Order: sequence, then C-alpha cells, then structure tokens
Amino acid sequence: MKMAVLGSGYLGTVYATVMASLGHQVVAIDVDEQKIDSLNAAEPAFHEPGLKPLLIQELASGRLRFTTDAATALKSVGIIFICVGTPQSIDGNSTDLKFLYESVDAITCFANAGALVVGKSTVPVGTAAQLAVRLSEYQLDLAWSPEFLREGEAIRNAMMPDRIIVGVNSSDVEMVLREVYKPFSNAGVKVIFTDFHTTELSKLAANAFLATKISFVNAMAEICDSAGGDVLVLAGAIGCDERIGQRFLQPGIGFGGGCLAKDLRSLISSASRYGVDNLAKFLEQVDEINLRQRHNAVQLVEEMCRGPLLGKKICILGIAFKPNTDDIRDSAAIGIALTLKELGATVRIYDPRAMKITKHHYPMFGFGSSVMDAAYGADIVLHLTDWPEFLEIEPSQLGTVVQHKRILDGRNALNSELWMNDGWSYRALGRRTALSRSGII
Ligand code: UDX
Repeated sequence: MKMAVLGSGYLGTVYATVMASLGHQVVAIDVDEQKIDSLNAAEPAFHEPGLKPLLIQELASGRLRFTTDAATALKSVGIIFICVGTPQSIDGNSTDLKFLYESVDAITCFANAGALVVGKSTVPVGTAAQLAVRLSEYQLDLAWSPEFLREGEAIRNAMMPDRIIVGVNSSDVEMVLREVYKPFSNAGVKVIFTDFHTTELSKLAANAFLATKISFVNAMAEICDSAGGDVLVLAGAIGCDERIGQRFLQPGIGFGGGCLAKDLRSLISSASRYGVDNLAKFLEQVDEINLRQRHNAVQLVEEMCRGPLLGKKICILGIAFKPNTDDIRDSAAIGIALTLKELGATVRIYDPRAMKITKHHYPMFGFGSSVMDAAYGADIVLHLTDWPEFLEIEPSQLGTVVQHKRILDGRNALNSELWMNDGWSYRALGRRTALSRSGII
C-alpha cells in the first residue's frame, strides 16, 4: 500500500521504517528540513537499537523516503498515519494538541477525498470523535490506533506488538485496516477493533497502570525503609503470583521519559474534566510517589555523605531515563542531578549514550569520558540508569579512583554483596533496615 506518515520524531521514524520493511511504499513527512536530510542519509536524531540498519535497508529498497513536501506527499497516498508528538501542556496536566491540529490542517488541505487517516499519537479521550467530524467534511475517514512501543526495544515492539487496538466508526474503515494489519494478525498479534473512546482510554490506561505498578513498589520501598523490610525481596515475592508478575516492579528512583508521566497526567486531566475525581486523586498519588523517590534519593545521598552536600564531589553513572536510549526527557537522574547541583555539589556524569544531548541541554554539569574518569575523586557514586555495562563494574577497580567508597544504587540493580565485600558503603532505596539488620550499615 502507498502510505504517508506525518511526523518524523521518535514514533514516526520507527513506524515509517517498520511499515516499509513490511513491504509498504512509505513517505514520511516532517516540517524540520535538517531532520529530513539526516533521515534520508539514514542518520536518526536519537539512539534506538536496530533502527539505523533497518533505515539503511529500507531507504536503499526505495520503499521509504523522507520529505518536507507535505502537499505532494499527501496527494500521492490513500492512507495517512499521524505520528506527531502530543506533549504535556506547559501550564498544567492536559495534553498540548497543537502539532496534531497542525497535521490535520495539512491533511484537509492536501489529501485526496476518500483517503483514510489513522491517528497513532496518544490523545485525550474525545479527540478522535471530534476530528472525525472535521475530516468527514473533506470526505476523509478516520481511525485511531495508538502505538504502544517502548524506547530501546521499539523495532521489535513495532514489528511484533503485544496487541493492536483500533478505534473506528465505520465497517468500511475496519475492512481497510484489517487488510493493513494482516501481516500482524497473520503473525498472531491480537487486533482489537472498538470505538474511539475505548481506544484512546486503553492507551492512557496502559501507561497509567504501568506507572501505578512502579509507584506501588516504590511506596512499598518507603514503608520498608520506615518499618523495616527489604523491598527487593518483597517485590520478588509478590511477583511470583502470576496475577501480579515480576515486570515493572523494580524499585528505585522512579519512572521518567516522554510517556508515562505525560500520559498519567493526561488521564488525570481527563478524569477531572469528566468529574471522575477518585480516578484523578488516585493517579495524582501515583505521580507524587514517583517524584518523591527523586527527593528520597537526594536525602539518602545527604545521609551517606553525613551532612550538607556543599562542595561534595558526586559521580552520576547513567543519566538517560532508562538503558538503551539517549533520551533524557523527564529523566529521574536529571532531576536528582539538578537538585544536587542546587545544594552546592559538583556533579560529574557518565552515560554510555546520552552524553552529547545532556551536554547540550545541561552544560553546567561536569562530564567524564568513562566510568573511571567520572568517578575520579568522588565522595559518592550514584548509579541512576541500569545500563548493562554498569553491572559489570569491578568495585575494587572503581575503589582505586574515588575519594570515598560510597555507592547509592538508585535502580536496585547492582550486586550489593559484591560492593559491600569490597568495603563499599552500599545503599539503595527500600533496603535501609534490611541492610542495617545484617550489620552492613
Ligand atoms: C512506556 C510504555 O512502556 C510503552 O508501552 C509506551 O508506548 C510508551 O511509554 P517507555 O517510556 O519507552 O515506554 O519506557 P518504559 O520501559 O515503560 O520505562 C519507563 C520508566 O520506568 C523508565 O524510567 C524506567 O527506568 C522506569 N521503570 C520501569 C522503573 O523504575 N521500574 C520498573 O520496574 C520498570
């Protein structure tokens, strides 16, 4: 099929490339000329494992191209996927739909009557129904089919999603999309057709649920620290129940990134708008617990350094919001680094992928060229993103360059015994009393 993908950010680039790899003829559109030139040269603006080779392959096949010429591109296709960003509004929890409305304006100007528009961006409940009315005035159909891909595993997720959910308001549209999604349904992916509202809410609910799971375990970490208990053992134990599961129960400094918090807040905003105050209050707590973990981490740093942080040298290992990405949007590590800097500490960062972007946005930090370089002379080391290479660090080797052997494991991911056996003061959120009971702290 000939299709256009509007928006060549994270979602649009990955989706356009994957659709081309499925054999479709794809033109991806963006207003940013520099970005489009780079993408046509197979140079994405962000790090995503597996994307670059696939981009090279699909550009070479002739099935994929990137352009700023929306007019020509939109006229040449029968199906248009909207993949633009829907960020949080600067003045509240609601979603800023500016880019979405701009893309709909372009579609109404240039698309052929009879074309099908499919929204993939995450939007507040009610958005698709409203847009469908507008598009119908131009004889354009609309479906909504939000994307659930995770950064760092986006290619695999987009090629083999857990499910595809599609909001439609006509059986003709459903027929077309059943055809488009045939490679997925043939591969065993569950494709669920429903109404617009259920679709929009399903996407927000999925991210709000994941956020709730993380905040739940982090709230348990707090009670473990107060009452006594080991949150890691607790998480492992409750996760054995299949109904609960082990995933998304990793306690630590909490969730960040461009999606979970934004979507959580979008749902809070919709819940308030529709008068569902219990849902709004519940999700507000999830958000608060998450942000409190950043504060708890800073407090633990102060405790470990035995006093004010003014003049202390702090090494941060990992600044991306999670491993396998260079994305630092709403990264918990960035939040912590900024607070430490405000408290007068000298912060030196090392991250395997996110150095360039962090230097660009936060030039006030210091940067190390390696783990050892960043840790040189440090009063304390903070492990804030669980990159696989950090799990391989030899405590005895790192111990030769630091001023004090203190490590805060903000992701509860390091082998605590290894560090403690080498004489490090090892601490982690939710394990205070467990570690002290065993005589370690
Ligand atoms: C999320 C959703 O998982 C995905 O389905 C949706 O399409 C987009 O939003 P993503 O933002 O890429 O994906 O990251 P995710 O893997 O969900 O992790 C989010 C944050 O939670 C990260 O900062 C991660 O470190 C943190 N996290 C995750 C925890 O703190 N504990 C966990 O147990 C799991």
